[in-house]
Amino acid sequence: MLILGIESSCDETGVALVESGGAAVPVLRSHALFSQVDMHQAYGGVVPELASRDHIRRVLPLTELVLRDAGCRLADVDVVAFTRGPGLAGALLVGAGVACALGAALERPVLGVHHLEGHLLSPFLSADPPEFPFVALLVSGGHTQLMRVDGVGRYAILGETIDDAAGEAFDKSAKLMGLGYPGGPALSRLAEQGDPTAFKLPRPLLHSGNLDFSFAGLKTAVLTQAKKLGDQLEAAGSTAKADLAASTQAAIVEVLLKKSLAALKETGLRRLVVAGGVGANRELRRQLNLACAQQGVRVHYPELHLCTDNGAMIAMAAAMRLQAGVQQANWVYAFDVKPRWPLDALEVN
Ligand code: KG4
Ligand code: ZN
Repeated sequence: MLILGIESSCDETGVALVESGGAAVPVLRSHALFSQVDMHQAYGGVVPELASRDHIRRVLPLTELVLRDAGCRLADVDVVAFTRGPGLAGALLVGAGVACALGAALERPVLGVHHLEGHLLSPFLSADPPEFPFVALLVSGGHTQLMRVDGVGRYAILGETIDDAAGEAFDKSAKLMGLGYPGGPALSRLAEQGDPTAFKLPRPLLHSGNLDFSFAGLKTAVLTQAKKLGDQLEAAGSTAKADLAASTQAAIVEVLLKKSLAALKETGLRRLVVAGGVGANRELRRQLNLACAQQGVRVHYPELHLCTDNGAMIAMAAAMRLQAGVQQANWVYAFDVKPRWPLDALEVN
């Protein structure tokens, strides 16, 4: 069965083809991505209306590209999957509208996918896919959650952020340091040249006794520190900016690491899956790999290029839902989107 997946929840248009058959893990046939980062950079963040318009421009050419790459025709597609939420309403409507129009034209069923389930299942696209059950650390630009995952559609939230997400903490701190948008990758690159112990920054909720996170206070601490440093932050030959970047990254990584280990302890599980954009962070991976190796825990990540938003994870999540029998694709082409949609409220039909 050939599944076309369309992702358009934020600032990346992603399209992919995944093939599934029998009980084997579905495989990625081809995928293509267009990132709008350059367009939004001038505004310091995503402009929703511009995002929607650009998704409209990109989605069909990307669909043609993935079909060509896979050597397939549109008529070969069996199911059209799209991101139904959460995300920007207008951006989601583009993917949903195009998917339902394609479904109706091709007389094929459609399936609306939860964006975070896409991230969560994206490590199944790697050469070394995980096995259920596992603890998942989902760290994206909009969400930070620890979950117990017992199977497709069986997700229990163990803890989550009460304010900013980890990606947001990276992005907002980076913005304060003048590192542009999205700042996560830039901040982590700069951090490689800095001293992570140079500045004492808060580790929010580290000892809260539960698995919740809070990152809003961190950006205030970074701002206070940046103000204190003043001109020194940009002075030639000064390592202050790299030191602040490294200290910020160290604070975020320590909280994510300790809470993940606590979740493994609490559930007694020996497998950790890390997904979402922040899962691309090298320092997070280094520290998680080290700690998990010491404790005999297996860690799985998506391939680096599939950590951030993409169509492959949407096609994969649809394929796995269909394979597990937790959802059927439907033949109704009236659609809605869910800009807010908690993962543990995912319905089964
Ligand atoms: O999962 P994602 O693509 O989008 C959402 O669903 O939100 O995640 C994007 C987030 C951004 O906040 C970005 O700064 C962050 O992931 N990110 C990183 C890195 N690469 C992406 N944060 C830290 N280090 C990275 N290498
Ligand atoms: Zn995402």
